[in-house]
Amino acid sequence: MSNSLGKLFMVTSFGESHGKCVGVVIDGCPAGLTVSIDEVQKEVDRRKASSSAGSTSRLEEDKVEIISGIFNDTTTGAPLCLLIWNRNIDSAEYEKTRFVPRPGHADYTAFMKYGGFNDYRGGGRFSGRITAGYVMAGSIAKKLLGLIGIEVIAHTVQIGDIKAGKVAIDKIRDASSHSPVGCADVTAAEEMVSLIAKARSEGDSIGGVIEAMALNVQVGLGEPVFDTLEGALAKAFFAIPAVKGVEFGSGFLSAEKKGSENNDPFIVDNNMIITKSNNAGGVLGGISNGMPVIARVAVKPTASIAKSQQSVNMKTMQNADISVRGRHDACIVPRAVPVVESMMAITLCDLAMRAGLIPGVIK
Ligand SMILES: Cc1cc2nc3c(=O)[nH]c(=O)nc-3n(C[C@H](O)[C@H](O)[C@H](O)COP(=O)(O)O)c2cc1C
Repeated sequence: MSNSLGKLFMVTSFGESHGKCVGVVIDGCPAGLTVSIDEVQKEVDRRKASSSAGSTSRLEEDKVEIISGIFNDTTTGAPLCLLIWNRNIDSAEYEKTRFVPRPGHADYTAFMKYGGFNDYRGGGRFSGRITAGYVMAGSIAKKLLGLIGIEVIAHTVQIGDIKAGKVAIDKIRDASSHSPVGCADVTAAEEMVSLIAKARSEGDSIGGVIEAMALNVQVGLGEPVFDTLEGALAKAFFAIPAVKGVEFGSGFLSAEKKGSENNDPFIVDNNMIITKSNNAGGVLGGISNGMPVIARVAVKPTASIAKSQQSVNMKTMQNADISVRGRHDACIVPRAVPVVESMMAITLCDLAMRAGLIPGVIK
């Protein structure tokens, strides 16, 4: 198992869906950072289930508790431990199908890898619920990044085959609090809501794409060759359950372009070197080039669906169909938006500390 991420801003995730709690330990957080519990809570509330976006009916209070590392609303330099208690637990459905793995979920691989000792209730360690810890850590990382002017924003750009049009940055900032699907294009968002509702009514689910961007990033973040900016971000994004693809800038489309189309010409603007376009997604040679860092993350359709699917009973070794009646998101994308944002912030914070941009004591 590997549950820690980062070298200087080191985040350790713990907890299971139907265990006592889910949370995070942050080691290496600079002392002297002002943190109020309300700020962390606000971020965690963004990933809560919302019925209008076809989310799970497991409506948790998700009240953040700060266990250590913060005194008088200020970080002390000691490890931070933040958690939320699991309260709305109903494991009955999982007991019934304990030996019948859900197609598309981690039930089969976890059972095989951990010899059947894994906590299978609600997906255990493989539940989307563990991402609440990511968001708590992300809220701290965002505050640290704010000190050096970096802003991280994520938004939904696609659900199923519905794609959002280009929208101004201010609207994208607002989307997280105003749109039920985290999409800034209002017309597309309405269609997305209907599409998710349709998938749910058919006992099915649907996926989508989240775009994450970091603005005002200094030149020089990223540690070639194994902790490049792209490599570190991709690793963090792939720690989000259901993420199946990551691309930067023009990404997979760049394979279809000529060099003359894909290269971003350099220009001098206000005595600064910038690029005219941003097909590189703000990264050259694994190092930030000063342009916005742009990543897109593909989220697969939710594995747990009411539609009957073919599976097996791992105990009897017989075929066994499964229809998942538990409490599940028909589309994970809206709830994953703040999670993607958090993983980008955690990664950039670690790399900014490694680049010497964030001091060990905030004064
Ligand atoms: C916020 C969030 C919520 C999720 N909710 C569900 C869910 O309700 N049902 C489900 O089957 N999967 C859900 N997932 C995804 C599964 O945890 C994931 O598909 C599973 O662990 C297998 O991992 P993989 O898809 O990365 O291979 C969720 C993921 C996230 C990020």
